Amino acid sequence: MDNSLKGRVALVTGGTKGIGKAIADRLSSEGCKVVVTARTEPKENPNGHYFIASDLTQPESAESIAKEILTTFGRIDIIVNNAGANLSPGGGFSTLSDEHWITDWQLNFLSVVRINKALLPVMIEQKSGVIINISTGAAKQPIWEMTMSYSSAKAALNIYSKALANELGAKGVRVNVVSPGVVKTPLMLEFIENLAKSSNIKVDDAFKAVMDKVGAPLGRMADPEEIANLVAFLVSPEAKYITGINYSVDGGALPVV
Ligand SMILES: NC(=O)c1ccc[n+]([C@@H]2O[C@H](COP(=O)([O-])OP(=O)(O)OC[C@H]3O[C@@H](n4cnc5c(N)ncnc54)[C@H](OP(=O)(O)O)[C@@H]3O)[C@@H](O)[C@H]2O)c1
Repeated sequence: MDNSLKGRVALVTGGTKGIGKAIADRLSSEGCKVVVTARTEPKENPNGHYFIASDLTQPESAESIAKEILTTFGRIDIIVNNAGANLSPGGGFSTLSDEHWITDWQLNFLSVVRINKALLPVMIEQKSGVIINISTGAAKQPIWEMTMSYSSAKAALNIYSKALANELGAKGVRVNVVSPGVVKTPLMLEFIENLAKSSNIKVDDAFKAVMDKVGAPLGRMADPEEIANLVAFLVSPEAKYITGINYSVDGGALPVV
């Protein structure tokens, strides 16, 4: 059996920074033709990823991404729905307006639903395809009042992914979720800086507070490449019997089995 990913067309949303970039670079090194999306085109693109500019909080973005991929490559084999962020302020439930909730859900949940809906007919026709939805440990265990609207959108993503896996298994399409804990990325650094500001503490103390709250037995944040390692395995033919699962990559932080 050919276990390689050579020539597969892979979309990685938010593939220009952090976890998404690590996934895009890894898939490219495995031989995939990688399409990345983000709002801003990176200045450097050493791996030659095909870039599509797009804001995923906008409902029309998914259709135009799908159209450009299918026009350019004629197929889609792998979708990694990675773009996501906690866009809301701290302060708990009473600080969150309808607009905060809607924006968090547009980016972290509805954009994934729309991208998959636009590209799945092609995977179903091909009778093959793999989808990875990047969630968060905070969707299994709410650890921070700053992440309420974000983590509930990701929790919706988890159950949506399970339902999609059930629906698509017989059609040759696998769907899995990868849930990072804390990962050293621009998003995490911004979160820590905002926490320091809103709690009126030093950035170093905010960093320590996050690590204490998360309580990962491995005692450190992950590198983005450590998330990409699992994604590369899950999209490969070696994982062909794995679907409908939500994997934590969190240094052991989740306190339940
Ligand atoms: N870092 C962590 O500790 C952690 C933990 C658990 C889960 N996660 C999840 O992992 C995923 C990646 O996080 P990260 O930490 O790698 O984030 P990051 O460093 O901020 O990178 C996010 C990527 O998504 C793009 N992006 C952000 N907002 C977008 C929008 N509105 N439309 C389109 N693209 C957008 C960014 O590019 P532009 O800014 O140019 O658009 C960038 O390429 C997210 O889904 C996040 O929820 C992260």
